[in-house]
Amino acid sequence: MNVAVVGAGYVGLITAAGLAEIGHRVICVDDDTRKVEVLISGRLPLYEPILEDLVKRNRQAKRLEFVSRIEDAVEKCPVIFICVGTPSLEDGETDLSSVEGVARKIAECARGYHLVVEKSTVPVQTGRRLQKYFKSRLQCEVASNPEFLSEGSGVEDFFHPDRIVVGVDSEKAAGLLKEIYQPVIQQSFACPVHASCGKRAEAPFIVTDVNSAELIKHASNSFLAMKISFINMIADLCEAVGADVEKVAEAVGMDKRIGDRFLKPGVGFGGSCFPKDLQAFVRIGRKAGCDFGLLREVEKINHQRIDLFVKKIKRELGEVSGKRIGVWGLAFKPGTDDVRTSPSLAVIRELVAEGALIRAYDPEAIEKARAELPGIEYGRDAYAVAENAEALLALTEWEDFQHLDLAKVRQVMARPLVIDGRNMFSPARMAEHGFEYVGIGRGVTGHLPVPGPKNA
Ligand code: UDX
Ligand code: UDX
Repeated sequence: MNVAVVGAGYVGLITAAGLAEIGHRVICVDDDTRKVEVLISGRLPLYEPILEDLVKRNRQAKRLEFVSRIEDAVEKCPVIFICVGTPSLEDGETDLSSVEGVARKIAECARGYHLVVEKSTVPVQTGRRLQKYFKSRLQCEVASNPEFLSEGSGVEDFFHPDRIVVGVDSEKAAGLLKEIYQPVIQQSFACPVHASCGKRAEAPFIVTDVNSAELIKHASNSFLAMKISFINMIADLCEAVGADVEKVAEAVGMDKRIGDRFLKPGVGFGGSCFPKDLQAFVRIGRKAGCDFGLLREVEKINHQRIDLFVKKIKRELGEVSGKRIGVWGLAFKPGTDDVRTSPSLAVIRELVAEGALIRAYDPEAIEKARAELPGIEYGRDAYAVAENAEALLALTEWEDFQHLDLAKVRQVMARPLVIDGRNMFSPARMAEHGFEYVGIGRGVTGHLPVPGPKNA
């Protein structure tokens, strides 16, 4: 089928390349002409594992092309996925101006039937709102097909989803989306992610009304964020009473009703989704007369993570002013170059404001971090940022950091202190190498609790 994907960001690019890989002819549109030029030149404007090969292969096979004018895509494609950004407005509500702008443009150039599919995360009832642009284009329909693509494993998530959700108003729309996703539903493609994928179970294809599909997305992300804040709350208790949150999370997660994923304590969740989706969902609830106090608490716990971590640094170092501090990790999570709402950047900003001398390293995110934080130093590798540092902060759990020569790290540091905001190292291994090691919620390592915000 001819399919258009509007927006060549993390979600749009993965969607476009994935749909091309399963056999569709995809036109990916982005109004950022510089981005389109980069893509046409054969490079990617972002880092995401496997994606570069996927884009290259499908461009060569002439199943994927990039354009900057939406008109060029709409006239050829009956189905159009909207994957443009939906950031937060100042009051926390979702900024729908890009989504609405795209819908308006599609309506202007639509001839005949078009299925317009919201993939960007939008508040419930946005589909209904978009319908107004198609009032004079009665053949057009709006559907919802929320993305569940986690950065760093987005390509894997596209090909092996836990479920595909479509919110539709007609059988025709459901049929078209089912046809598009058929190879993924049946797991009948040559897997570009795993060399030997084996036969997998069919991916569940869930058909709902448009409102429910929109709501499923916010409910899923809010639930995951809730799990993270829950374990962070438990981590603080572990630290205060002398217990090991890693052991607690492991055993709690073994209960199949709970599950072991998204129970990693640390400096909190960031990225372009959880923080903004929570804010938006709380406001959606309020507008509908429902009190989402539970989610406000999830947000509050997450905000406190940065303060608590900075206090922990100051407990170890005293004043940070004039002290050299190394940072491992800038991206909001490993496997991406994305620094949007990155907890690492938030910690660095606090320390810089207090006069600390920061030198940071990340395997992929330095370029994007430099645009946000031009005033700090960036090291060429993980060892370079350890040199003469009085402390090292581990803030993104890249696999690379696990394989460092710790003896070498210790040797170059002014003081062998590692403060691990992601519990990526084992306290025993760090002690063996002669480090002073402080993790999150690892009260049994003998460190004093950091006072919580109430009694700070
Ligand atoms: C996506 C979704 O849009 C968001 O709703 C979801 O919650 C998270 O993932 P993402 O792909 O990460 O966002 O956004 P971004 O990397 O900013 O990409 C959006 C792209 O859309 C950009 O390349 C931008 O240039 C493009 N765009 C934006 C258009 O082509 N037209 C517009 O009118 C606006
Ligand atoms: C999220 C959703 O998971 C995905 O389905 C899609 O809806 C887009 O939004 P993403 O934001 O890319 O994906 O990353 P995710 O893996 O969910 O992590 C979000 C944040 O939570 C990161 O900062 C990560 O470090 C943090 N996190 C995650 C934890 O602190 N602990 C955990 O156990 C898991």
